[in-house]
Amino acid sequence: MSETSKLPIGVFDSGVGGLTVVRALMERLPFENIIYFGDTARVPYGVKSVATIEHFTGQITDHLLQRGVKMLIIACNTMAAVASHAVKQRAGDVPVLDVIDAGARAAVQGSAGAIGVIGTPTTVNSNAYARRIHELNPAVRVYSQACPLFVPLVEEGWLDHPVTRMTAQEYLRPVLAEQVDSLVLGCTHYPPIKPLVQDVVGPDVRLVDSAITVAEQAAETLNQLGLANPGETLADYQFTVTDIPLRFQTIGERFLGRSLGTLTKLDW
Ligand code: DGL
Repeated sequence: MSETSKLPIGVFDSGVGGLTVVRALMERLPFENIIYFGDTARVPYGVKSVATIEHFTGQITDHLLQRGVKMLIIACNTMAAVASHAVKQRAGDVPVLDVIDAGARAAVQGSAGAIGVIGTPTTVNSNAYARRIHELNPAVRVYSQACPLFVPLVEEGWLDHPVTRMTAQEYLRPVLAEQVDSLVLGCTHYPPIKPLVQDVVGPDVRLVDSAITVAEQAAETLNQLGLANPGETLADYQFTVTDIPLRFQTIGERFLGRSLGTLTKLDW
C-alpha cells in the first residue's frame, strides 16, 4: 500500500449540492477519506459567466491540491460543463473525475435512442452533456432543458410541494414530447426531488443520477491505479465551506443523509 492511498479524495461543488456525491462515495467507498469543498459564499454558479466560473474553479482546485488529495471529483455539473479543462491542467498526475462524464456514460448505456438532460442554464447552454453523449454514441438524440427554479425550490426544502410539481411539469413537457427514454439529472440539486420528477415523467423514463455513477467510477479508478485505501481505520470526513449561511446545517444534512461532522469556514 502506498502512502498516497491514505490521502483523501477532494470533492467540490458550488455549494451544498455536491454532498449528494459525497453521500454516494461514503456508501460505495466507506474506507476513503474525503475533503468536501462547497463555495457557499458564491453559490449559485449556474447563472454566472464562463470566465467567472473558470476563475472560481481554479481557486478551489489549487486549494484542494495544496491540502494533498489523491483524486479530485468535480461534483458540480456547472463547473464540469465549463471548467473541467482548467481542473485537469492544474491537477497534473492527480486523477480528475466529473459528474458530466459519469452521467453521460450512464445515460448512453441504458438508452435506446433519445436522452433528456436537465440542468442549470450554464450547463445547458454549454452543451457539454450533449457533446459527451455524442462522443460516446453519435446516434443518440439529446434534448436539453434548463430548470433554474429547481435549485431554490430544493434549497427551500419543497421536495414534494405542489409548486415544485407544477414547475417540473412545465419544464419537462417539451422534453417528454420528444419521447425520451432516459432523463439525466444534470445538477447536484436534483437528486432530492427524484421521486417527484419520476412521478412527473412516468415509470417508462429512466432517471440517471450521476452521483451514483461517479462513485462507481471513483472505485474503479482507485483500484486500477492502486490507490484504494485498504481501510485500517475509520474514514475521516472534512467539510470546508466559504460561508455558513442560515439553515446551512439543515440543508446540508438533507443532501448528505446524515449529520455533518467537522465544518470549517475558509476566508479566501
Ligand atoms: N452545483 C450546481 C450544479 O450542479 C447547482 C447549483 C449552482 O447553480 O451553483 O450545476
